[in-house]
Amino acid sequence: MANLKNALPENAEGNYFVDSTCINCSISRHYAPEIFGDTGTHAFVKRQPQNLREEFTVQQALLACPVASIGAREKIDLTNARESFPVRMTEDVYLNGYNHRKSYGAHSYFLQTETGNWLVDSPRFLPDLVNRFEAMGGIKYIFLTHSDDVADADKYAKHFNAIRIIHKLESHAQPEAELILEGDDSHRLDAGEIHFTPGHTEGHLVLLWQDKYLFTGDHYAWDPPLNHFGSFREHCWYSWDIQIESVRKMAAFKHVIWVFPGHGKWGKVPEDQFPQIINQSVKWMLSVR
Ligand SMILES: [Fe+2]
Repeated sequence: MANLKNALPENAEGNYFVDSTCINCSISRHYAPEIFGDTGTHAFVKRQPQNLREEFTVQQALLACPVASIGAREKIDLTNARESFPVRMTEDVYLNGYNHRKSYGAHSYFLQTETGNWLVDSPRFLPDLVNRFEAMGGIKYIFLTHSDDVADADKYAKHFNAIRIIHKLESHAQPEAELILEGDDSHRLDAGEIHFTPGHTEGHLVLLWQDKYLFTGDHYAWDPPLNHFGSFREHCWYSWDIQIESVRKMAAFKHVIWVFPGHGKWGKVPEDQFPQIINQSVKWMLSVR
């Protein structure tokens, strides 16, 4: 829990606050954009929640925060927020919450399916989530987009006897991974299609689920400050030019209706618009080379 002694001076007066341990990973603003602002170096409470719905989203952000920087002056009951994770986003896709410090607060997801459930990147390994995943049928595959966001994947793999999937060029982060992919081929596995998308890192992968849900890791995301889908120029560790080409290839994913990233925010895509959105993203990426 955050420490009131370290509360940021920018916080609006009231119960909830952000303290100076905040790493500005932006996830509080994904859960409660109307409540949390950005000082440029930290998140802060720009206004206090005004109703139960808003308070619930603040509490979800508090639990998701990877560094426990969100706190409350008075005692709060987190039961409802705790029970909301994993949060159902659509059909069989769930947002896990409990983002991990080790992945700089990347989002992770759970896919529930009759052929065996998937974890996409990893949240913290916590009894609450483990119990929930067990009740939802366990985990068959752990899909790891790239080396930055593996977090507690090894603990989940051990507990659920799951198969970790990662590219060889990223496998230094999970050398014991059960399925290490090589080269630039695509792979079909149950309802998932795995594609090689280097750029952010050298061996980055994305998962196209049921042809319409795209799990993009740190390759591509909705960027709230810029109000568009794109990649993060300042967080490209391998090659921006190669990342542009990897984004360009995603225009082939014609039926995508949701993008679920690690960093950046999830975003809905109007039907049949994804190729056009990709073209716009590529234009923008070329403009900031
Ligand atoms: Fe990354």
